[in-house]
Amino acid sequence: MNSLARERLNQHYCLNKRDCLELVYNAGIPLMIGVVSLWIAINQQKLDKSNHAQDIQLSNAERTQDRVIARLQRDEDRETARLQREEDKTMTRLQREEDQRTARLQREEDREAARLQRLEDKETVRLQRELDLKITIDKRIQDYELAELQRNMSEQQRAQELEIAHQNRINDLLLEDGRQKENVLLEYQDDLATLLLEYGSLFKDPKSKWWFILQMKTAAALRQLDPQRRTVLVNTLFDAGILDLERDRSQSLLYRTNLSGVEFGY
Ligand SMILES: *[C@@H]1O[C@H](CO)[C@@H](O)[C@H](O)[C@H]1NC(C)=O
Ligand SMILES: *[C@@H]1O[C@H](CO)[C@@H](O)[C@H](O)[C@H]1NC(C)=O
Repeated sequence: MNSLARERLNQHYCLNKRDCLELVYNAGIPLMIGVVSLWIAINQQKLDKSNHAQDIQLSNAERTQDRVIARLQRDEDRETARLQREEDKTMTRLQREEDQRTARLQREEDREAARLQRLEDKETVRLQRELDLKITIDKRIQDYELAELQRNMSEQQRAQELEIAHQNRINDLLLEDGRQKENVLLEYQDDLATLLLEYGSLFKDPKSKWWFILQMKTAAALRQLDPQRRTVLVNTLFDAGILDLERDRSQSLLYRTNLSGVEFGY
């Protein structure tokens, strides 16, 4: 370039000085500017290149550093994740153990509750059974007492009926007895009247068969009669004047007769 300029300068050297100066002045400055610009551009280029290399180097270094950091970061992350996982695992295990323990306790509690419930149920059933039994027994006792009462009542009724029947029978017997005695008395009085009427003085002879018959009949009647009718009989004999007759003891009309209960003097 310098040579080119010098050549131009030599070409122009033939011009006058002023022209030359003017030329130099006119062409030199731009030239210089151009040279300077070129230099600057070259330098700039160099600088750019250098910068570029430096940038690349820097970026390489940065990338390397980033990679290292990233690796370290990744390692750290991995470690953190591992620790996290282990922690999680431990937590899970503890949680499971806790759950298992809780479940076991719950189961034991449930079992205990069920056992208590069963005991309570059994007790309830037992009480119910006792109550039922007591009710049944009470009912049976009540039934038994009622039956016994009815039996007693029917027994009492039967006893009463028996008593009444017995009483009736006794009354009948007494009536019958009374009737019989009455008949005996009436028959005796009839016989006595017949003897008195038909055999008047004859039968009063102690040795006559009529006297003997009267003696026999009197003894038989007195034996059969009751005190009241005996009294009537004896009074009849008095009234008929038969007891006034003088007789030996053995021939007396009342000899060896039953005079129990007779009231004399009527
Ligand atoms: C039934 O009678 C018997 C005696 O005859 C007596 O001991 C019993 O208490 C009576 N029962 C009732 C329910 O009256
Ligand atoms: C006499 O009659 C009475 C009843 O009136 C009787 O109790 C008594 O046993 C009789 N006596 C004799 C010796 O039969």
